[in-house]
Amino acid sequence: MKRVVILISGRGSNMEAIVQAQIPGAQIAAVISNRPEAAGLERARAAAIPTLVIDHKQFATRMAFEAKLHAALLDARIDLLCNAGFMRMLTGGFVDRWRDRQLNIHPSLLPSFPGLDTHQRALDEGVRIHGCTVHFVRLEMDTGPIVAQAAVPVLPGDTADSLGARVLAAEHRLYPHALRLVASGAARVVGEAIAGELPAAPPATLFSPPV
Ligand code: GRF
Repeated sequence: MKRVVILISGRGSNMEAIVQAQIPGAQIAAVISNRPEAAGLERARAAAIPTLVIDHKQFATRMAFEAKLHAALLDARIDLLCNAGFMRMLTGGFVDRWRDRQLNIHPSLLPSFPGLDTHQRALDEGVRIHGCTVHFVRLEMDTGPIVAQAAVPVLPGDTADSLGARVLAAEHRLYPHALRLVASGAARVVGEAIAGELPAAPPATLFSPPV
């Protein structure tokens, strides 16, 4: 059984999707927020998951905040970390300590659109297919071995909000799926890529606009 901590900063809908998925082999040991006001904390409590706030504003430096977070993770005997809307840049020291044990979800098909405002940027570029990515965390933001991706079409008349809602629904399916693959050992990092016994998907091609 892998012990998992989910790191959040806000709403926590991906965290909730992971919790509700009840992934065999993955026990959600705690939800940690760097923001005391994160709505996701209440969602975690409602799901009877232990919560912890480590407020980054209470620490003089990024490294002091990370030292406290690291200690809490060691205390909880954590195997895997899942960043789910965790909006804090991490230093190389922390990233290295959790190398190949820390996942992140990003609302685009990486390596397209790293960073913020991904849905508006996808619309501005006129892409026809957009989506989301779960990847292992590396120092450079929104990079690292890709575990899984989900694609959604960009539809005529889409706004950042309507497209974002379509992507978010995909995120809620993708993150539990990716965590299941990692927790079971089916997906593992070899070099800078993912290897393992990945499920063989039925052939499916998303056309956008549809054929
Ligand atoms: C998600 O879109 C995630 O991909 C991004 O931040 C958002 C967090 O949403 N990193 P929630 O807190 O999981 O509801």
